[in-house]
Amino acid sequence: MENLKTFEKGTDLTAKTLAGLENVLADELRALGAGSVEPGNRVVLFRGDDELMYKANYLYRTALRILKPIGIFTVKNEQELYEKVKRINWPALFDVGKTFVVSSSVFHSSMTNSLYVALKTKDAIADSFREKAGKRPYVSKDNAEMHIDVHISKDECTISLDSSGDSLHKRGYRVGVDKAPLNEVLAAGMIKLSGWNKEGDFIDPMCGSGTIPIEAGMEAMHIPSGYYRKHFSFENWKDFDPELFAKIKKEADEKICEYDNPIIASDKSYKAFGIARSNLRSAGLHKDIMLLNKPFAKVNAESGKGILMFNPPYGLRLEEDDLIELYKHIGDELKNRFQGYEAWIITANMEVAKFIGLRPSRKIILYNGPLESRFIKFEMYRGSKKAKANNLSEK
Ligand SMILES: C[S@@+](CC[C@H](N)C(=O)[O-])C[C@H]1O[C@@H](n2cnc3c(N)ncnc32)[C@H](O)[C@@H]1O
Repeated sequence: MENLKTFEKGTDLTAKTLAGLENVLADELRALGAGSVEPGNRVVLFRGDDELMYKANYLYRTALRILKPIGIFTVKNEQELYEKVKRINWPALFDVGKTFVVSSSVFHSSMTNSLYVALKTKDAIADSFREKAGKRPYVSKDNAEMHIDVHISKDECTISLDSSGDSLHKRGYRVGVDKAPLNEVLAAGMIKLSGWNKEGDFIDPMCGSGTIPIEAGMEAMHIPSGYYRKHFSFENWKDFDPELFAKIKKEADEKICEYDNPIIASDKSYKAFGIARSNLRSAGLHKDIMLLNKPFAKVNAESGKGILMFNPPYGLRLEEDDLIELYKHIGDELKNRFQGYEAWIITANMEVAKFIGLRPSRKIILYNGPLESRFIKFEMYRGSKKAKANNLSEK
């Protein structure tokens, strides 16, 4: 078949992630036995079979979705795209009774309209079914059972089945959100980036909806990232192996364990506290995470060592002066009451972050949604009122 490479089982897979988490995800993949792991820009390419693809969906904390390429070819225009997509044997991949949706990302000199690219792909899939099976599947934008991904870069087009469906940050435990909740994948990535050693306390003193402490609890207790999710798109594929997936889930779930060190979540807002409580209950972690409705000034260290991780308000609602006061207050609390701890703060407001007044030992660029942010580490050494001066490193 000229210019059209189709993939068989046990082949390349693509994991999508957030900018800044590529290496963390690559480590997760390697740890589970993936081969040829190659981090890129918000993606990690790897080799693996269906078992690894199921595991990637069920276990990896820092992947947003796992794509399985089924066709790769050169493409000059939409008509050529249509013809080549139609050549793929779609009825072999999913049943005509399943609904589908196409998403696209296009970086091409003449094909610039990604919606039109998605439309041509959808038509080609429908026509392929009509010709080969006599009927066409329906499109569903919101609740599709099959998710098809088209990626065009220069003149190379990759057609993939999206094995996840809903983005993997939708863990399934969140029943409510307060203002500016962190993406669950970002929170999980921050915990991994911090190198949390699970000694002493884990404290989020401004927990909002509770995302960071819940992800910390899941990490500490080895709760799979997909544990609360009801569904993955690969369960609708024709070649889905339910026994294999059940075995993967059983083995992973058997590793869930107790965690004895304190995980403390607090927020001064009663509304946020209530939402966090609902989310903790939904995750079944309300007995494992200590939830308080207190301002930071009243949150006490339990073990005398450990880690604080939080995202303070960064300015969309607070006046600049209040924000400066808040960040000064954070610095004072850390310096005076958390000696022996390390703190990791993510903020999109680099100007006010300076008012923390402690010297960062590390700064990592991450994106909180579209907002470029810094994930900043401070080390509060015992016996010194000042955080020890360290070489500032930014990556
Ligand atoms: C950006 S939100 C945190 C979002 C949270 N990480 C999540 O994923 O939902 C910031 C939170 O800090 C809380 N906050 C602000 N100042 C505080 C203080 N002095 N003590 C405790 N909480 C505070 C706010 O009530 C708000 O819920």
